[in-house]
Amino acid sequence: MPKNLLLLAGDGIGPEIMSEVKKIINWLNTNKKLDLQITEELAGGVSYDQTKTPLTDDVLYKAMDSDAVLLGAVGGPRYDQLEFSKRPERALLRLRKELRLFANLRPAICFSELVSASSLKPEIVSDLDIMIVRELTGGIYFGEPRGIEPIAKGERKGVNTHVYTSKEIVRVTKVAFDLAKKRNKKVTSAEKSNVMEAGMLWKEEVQKFYDENEEYKDIELSHMLADNCAMQLVRNPKQFDVIVTDNLFGDMLSDEAAMLTGSLGMLPSASLSEKDKNGRIRSMYEPCHGSAPDIAGQGIANPLAMILSFAMALKYSLDLDTYADEIDKAVKSVLKDGLRTPDIMEIGKRKVSTSEMGSAIIDKLK
Ligand SMILES: NC(=O)c1ccc[n+]([C@@H]2O[C@H](COP(=O)([O-])OP(=O)(O)OC[C@H]3O[C@@H](n4cnc5c(N)ncnc54)[C@H](O)[C@@H]3O)[C@@H](O)[C@H]2O)c1
Repeated sequence: MPKNLLLLAGDGIGPEIMSEVKKIINWLNTNKKLDLQITEELAGGVSYDQTKTPLTDDVLYKAMDSDAVLLGAVGGPRYDQLEFSKRPERALLRLRKELRLFANLRPAICFSELVSASSLKPEIVSDLDIMIVRELTGGIYFGEPRGIEPIAKGERKGVNTHVYTSKEIVRVTKVAFDLAKKRNKKVTSAEKSNVMEAGMLWKEEVQKFYDENEEYKDIELSHMLADNCAMQLVRNPKQFDVIVTDNLFGDMLSDEAAMLTGSLGMLPSASLSEKDKNGRIRSMYEPCHGSAPDIAGQGIANPLAMILSFAMALKYSLDLDTYADEIDKAVKSVLKDGLRTPDIMEIGKRKVSTSEMGSAIIDKLK
């Protein structure tokens, strides 16, 4: 049975960069026996324009039925005045919630060819390849009680609750260990066990998981306080392989790690669910950047984050690692040849359009 990928191009530059992925899929299907079926649907502002909702139930069911979802980007100034429930971003939140995507994978890769885009010294970031696994559905962003309430005359208090259960910690820990097995066999768990009970539980549960699961004995586990982890990421980021952390710290550490690489147009991401009762894991892959309305429709967007997101889908959801590796190699190779979209352009390199970059990747796959 061919695998099925649902493509949601979305808004702004979404359709332009998705079209390069489609080109690659069609080429691989025709020339390299990929056998991947694609379905295309609307999400975000384009869906609102046609259906008055950012994500229809029909599209949601298709997302649930597909082997993976690939999303471009949603949003744009045209939709900023809409009420909250109609906003394009609701499509993302609904997909994350309904597909129960609890683990967010954010690689920070710094291609040696793009090292000058980073604000750090080349030797610190060149060939950096780390993966941050962020818990996405628990912790302080969702904990109860929450709210703002009056406490005395003219005084109010704002409350959020940082709460984690053992089960929530263990399932994201397993994702991190499984990834480390496919990578460089190191997991760093980041929390604040020195000042937070939920952090103490986090550390204990991660250690217990490791101690009780023989199959991960070839992996090195270390624990690090989240503030130290933030420092180490800029001091010596190459010491890390996989970092697993909660929702709040993951939000910050993954943005910090992303900036080590210096270029938003190069960063893919993935979100995964638990296995359901039929053994299925649901997943969504998307570039870290937004819909870039300032450059939409000009054919100058960098499609590489989108293409690398597709490669992640091949690797982590579709069991097609060989194709993923070929795409990763092709990206490195076009950069080595000096091809650059305007966002990563440097003196002495060759400026190319979105579609020229996509075609160059195909040339490398030949
Ligand atoms: N996951 C998502 O769909 C997502 C994420 C973030 C923002 N957004 C939405 O995107 C819209 C714009 O947000 P923003 O401007 O804050 O962030 P953005 O990531 O869209 O753009 C930030 C800057 O980076 C540039 N940029 C981004 N991706 C690029 C690429 N592939 N190639 C070249 N340049 C690129 C843009 O031109 C812009 O100057 C908003 O409506 C926001 O809500 C969507």
